[in-house]
Amino acid sequence: MDKRLANDSLTIKTAQILPPDTNAYGTLFGGKLMAYIDDVALIAAVRHSRHTCVTASTDSVDFLAPVKLGDFVILEAFVTSTHKTSMEVFVKALTESFETGEKKVCATAFLTFVALNEDDIPIPVPGVIPESPQQLELFDSASLRRKRRSEKRRQSIRMAKEFSGEIIKRKER
Ligand SMILES: CC(C)(COP(=O)(O)OP(=O)(O)OC[C@H]1O[C@@H](n2cnc3c(N)ncnc32)[C@H](O)[C@@H]1OP(=O)(O)O)[C@@H](O)C(=O)NCCC(=O)NCCS
Repeated sequence: MDKRLANDSLTIKTAQILPPDTNAYGTLFGGKLMAYIDDVALIAAVRHSRHTCVTASTDSVDFLAPVKLGDFVILEAFVTSTHKTSMEVFVKALTESFETGEKKVCATAFLTFVALNEDDIPIPVPGVIPESPQQLELFDSASLRRKRRSEKRRQSIRMAKEFSGEIIKRKER
């Protein structure tokens, strides 16, 4: 299968933080930022694969700086690397002060998407050609993150089996 440039999937979204999205302290809800991250990463995955995609996993998100009411949040996403049917997407979120224009990285995240065919079966995706130093670094380190994720997935599957049994036991009482 052919390969596509990491830049071809580059997706940028800017939004202003308004009252419905803020907590009692006037800063953006973490869940809302995670929704923005998922939205922008999904578009990057679809741009890369040109198929319907679903989120398979989101690595931990560290909230590095608050996003204040009235400020802008800028999200940049691109596909860093792919395996067979899955794509790793890197997202960088920045906050921009509406008064001074000062920008700060407020979160970064890696998400994994899977491309699906018309029958919702995972379908192979093109490889990635990294170009910038950041893209090259993320491309080179992707296999290590993939290995960690596979182990985490095995643990999640084990836990899901254990916990679903527990729910059934409670219902029986
Ligand atoms: C993601 C999903 C399509 C995987 O389907 P599956 O039948 O388990 O298929 P596979 O086990 O062959 O996995 C397909 C690919 O996804 C990857 N994958 C699956 N789960 C993953 C996870 N938790 N983290 C990272 N990668 C994952 C596999 O490594 C594989 O990658 P590869 O083909 O590049 O090697 C399926 O689990 C699913 O539909 N999950 C729900 C997705 C969803 O609803 N997301 C929105 C959440 S609200």
